[in-house]
Amino acid sequence: MKHTDIKLIMTDKEYIGKEVTVCGWVRTARDSKNMTFIELNDGTSLKHIQLVVDKEIVKNSSSFTKLGSALKVIGTVVPSAVAQDGGVEINVLKMELLGDCPAEYPLQKKRINLETLRTMPHLRVRTNTFNAIFRVRSVLAAAIHEYFQDRGYVYINTPLITGSDCEGAGEMFKVTTMDYEDAAKYKSAEEYYANDFFGKLVGLSVSGQLEGEVAAMAFGKIYTFGPSFRAENSNTPRHVAEFWHIEPEVAFAELSDIMEIAEDMIKYIVKTYIEKCPEELAFFEKFFEKGLSAKLKNVIDNKFEILEYTKAIEILKKANVEFKFPVDWGLDLQTEHERYITEQVFNKPVFVVNYPKDIKSFYMKQNSDGKTVAATDLLVPGVGEIIGCSEREANLTRLLDAMKERDMHIEDYTDYIDLRRFGSVPHSGFGLGFERILMYVTGIQNIRDVILYPRTVGGIR
Ligand code: 4AD
Ligand code: MG
Repeated sequence: MKHTDIKLIMTDKEYIGKEVTVCGWVRTARDSKNMTFIELNDGTSLKHIQLVVDKEIVKNSSSFTKLGSALKVIGTVVPSAVAQDGGVEINVLKMELLGDCPAEYPLQKKRINLETLRTMPHLRVRTNTFNAIFRVRSVLAAAIHEYFQDRGYVYINTPLITGSDCEGAGEMFKVTTMDYEDAAKYKSAEEYYANDFFGKLVGLSVSGQLEGEVAAMAFGKIYTFGPSFRAENSNTPRHVAEFWHIEPEVAFAELSDIMEIAEDMIKYIVKTYIEKCPEELAFFEKFFEKGLSAKLKNVIDNKFEILEYTKAIEILKKANVEFKFPVDWGLDLQTEHERYITEQVFNKPVFVVNYPKDIKSFYMKQNSDGKTVAATDLLVPGVGEIIGCSEREANLTRLLDAMKERDMHIEDYTDYIDLRRFGSVPHSGFGLGFERILMYVTGIQNIRDVILYPRTVGGIR
């Protein structure tokens, strides 16, 4: 049905004095003897528009006030009688109830906490908080594409079903068409999987990197933006089993080059967010993180810190804090350590570089010290790691050695290994967790609240 977006009416002065049709859902309503006031939202903006209904003109206006009900409204746009900010409202001429909404509708006026809202993912999107989150999510996604497209990167869609575990962490979900009863028919796991759909054990991809590297060896600069899956058994505010992953891969780039790209991209998308979503940013600042705007401005204006892993360990050892997890050279940094470094020590994004090779993946370029790899994690205050990044091992022998050390099935990686045989070049890439950067820029503290339907251990809907 023909109608105008509420956002347009509220931002374009051309509409003042004109008759418009709007559609939307009732967010709040007030009924008095002669007048009814309804706040209508159609999802195009965070703000609602006020409908002013004269009961002389619309006789049954009290029946349009139920929260959540859907209306089609015809009326005249006029400057708001009360708002000081040049806002507008609609003097209603005609109203039609598109969809009634009974009193059991769970989103009644009072503020409902995020945890309760998680029990109704199909309805929580209608609240102000999720209205803001998902608009920011959409704007950031577009900004990420813009960043890479404007700089000549080719957008690649890598397969989601794969036979090779990129991170080698054993966190792959299995993909199978086998039934429970089938298992008894086979003598070994190999025989069992040989009879499965693909003739071997396959899973959902944890990362598009390996195929991204294939594409980078043809197009030079590529990026992916799609879902990755991890069967991590960790019930934390930062992990979901299905997350959206941005993975650029750049030929002829060394670690320092790719770090510059990562920093530049983060700054670009934060800047775009500040420019395009001022209302949402103000909303998050008010309800979720005091000082959010200043924090983001700092991100744009300052260089990110670069800290050697070895130095990070020294800092943590000297810290006057009782960490739950041990700190020692060779051990991985836990979220508590990451947050200490980025929140207490630097209070800005920090690249931790040159990790011990034994705690990192097989594909990372081995440094000449024989102990570390040319890898970095970008840590940010409030969230911890948002990016995993590295220069790739371009030398065939060293790559094979790293795979053997990890007891990997070399035959599952023949394509990947060929890249080191046919015109191998230095190259680097990174993976940005889309939900993690969303948490960072909105101040939302649980990853379950920045994705439409979070998938977590023991929880699916
Ligand atoms: O550090 P990770 O495991 O790196 C890779 O997957 C590389 N193959 C990336 C590359 O170099 N192309 O994951 C990258 C990022 C993490 O920093 C984090 O932001 C996000 O992906 N991530 C998750 N986000 C939400 N839930 C999870 N379970 C995540 N696991 C990783
Ligand atoms: Mg990582």
